[in-house]
Amino acid sequence: MKTIVTIVDNSMDNEREYQQAVDMLSAGEVVAFPTETVYGLGAVATNEKAVEKIFQAKGRPSDNPLIVHIGTQGEVAHYAKSISLEAKQLMKAFWPGPLTLVFEQIPHIVAPNVTPGVTTVGIRMPDHPVALRLLQTLKLPLAAPSANRSGKPSPTEALHVKKDLNGRIPLILDGGQTGVGLESTVIDMTSTPPVILRPGGITKDMIEAVIGPVETAHGLKTAEAPRSPGMKYAHYAPEAPLFIIEANQEKIKEAVTAIQKEGQKVAVIGPNDLNMTAADWYFAIGANTNVEEMAANLYKALRQCDTTEADLILAVETNLEGVGEAFMNRLLKAADGRRYDV
Ligand code: TXA
Ligand code: MG
Repeated sequence: MKTIVTIVDNSMDNEREYQQAVDMLSAGEVVAFPTETVYGLGAVATNEKAVEKIFQAKGRPSDNPLIVHIGTQGEVAHYAKSISLEAKQLMKAFWPGPLTLVFEQIPHIVAPNVTPGVTTVGIRMPDHPVALRLLQTLKLPLAAPSANRSGKPSPTEALHVKKDLNGRIPLILDGGQTGVGLESTVIDMTSTPPVILRPGGITKDMIEAVIGPVETAHGLKTAEAPRSPGMKYAHYAPEAPLFIIEANQEKIKEAVTAIQKEGQKVAVIGPNDLNMTAADWYFAIGANTNVEEMAANLYKALRQCDTTEADLILAVETNLEGVGEAFMNRLLKAADGRRYDV
């Protein structure tokens, strides 16, 4: 299959490009498109065969439910059994935006492979002009996971999608670099209080300012079944082993020297203001005072490490405030929990 990449710059007339994407989706094909978080790989959520193509293209385990994307707030009532006052307040405050709400679903509306093994459905309205225009022209919901091969960092540029899925999908809409750079916050609205299953751009503080106290899933006992099935799989991993390291210039230098002494090459991912001339590669991803900027550039840096000959990657940790929680959540997964101790 040949993969077409189409640039959809909203400043020009590109009705034909959107129509092509809509026609392919309506015909049961998959299409990659930008959202404000990461690129998604969409298929019409009510078409089981189309959704199956997502799992095939990504190599995604079939027991991991997909998020349903909608183009208008009102559509949520087509899929959610009931919408609590808190859910309404969150939708009003943060939609369109990087927040996925999990509801009990009205059965037999979305295809069964969108929500394998669960009676709930995760829904979000993305805040990106291309995603919104696509959804509003299509007038159907799109099931869309991140448009990467399973296990790889999520794509924040069309080029990342092409690298992973070239020849496996027919069309990529190129809307430039995404904004947030980490996947949406997922919150389970079926429990009281609601539980954050995956931290993201909409932080716990932002949510609590609207609906009061909520819980976070990583506080749950590990013996409990994962609440968000995606939590149990390896994620975001670059090819070389990655270790998290404290944001301390001296300690990082010591680590780099020790690794190089073993005859190994090392790439470091960290803030702009570290002086890391000793590392074989240094990927500066933003000011250390600006976690949003670091989050926006993290996945790109993880992918850039794969273009080096690094034997080992060190990634500098941030604090857990605001988006720092989501940043460290993804970094811990990419590192499989490992830290480098000097
Ligand atoms: O920002 C995002 O959310 C991106 C863009 C494309 O919208 N999408 C995304 O999808 O990250 P994906 O499939 O890579 O991650 C979806 C996560 C998984 O961890 C999955 O387990 C969880 O959301 N999830 C989806 N539906 C769920 C449900 N009904 N109950 C619990 N967890 C759910
Ligand atoms: Mg993903």
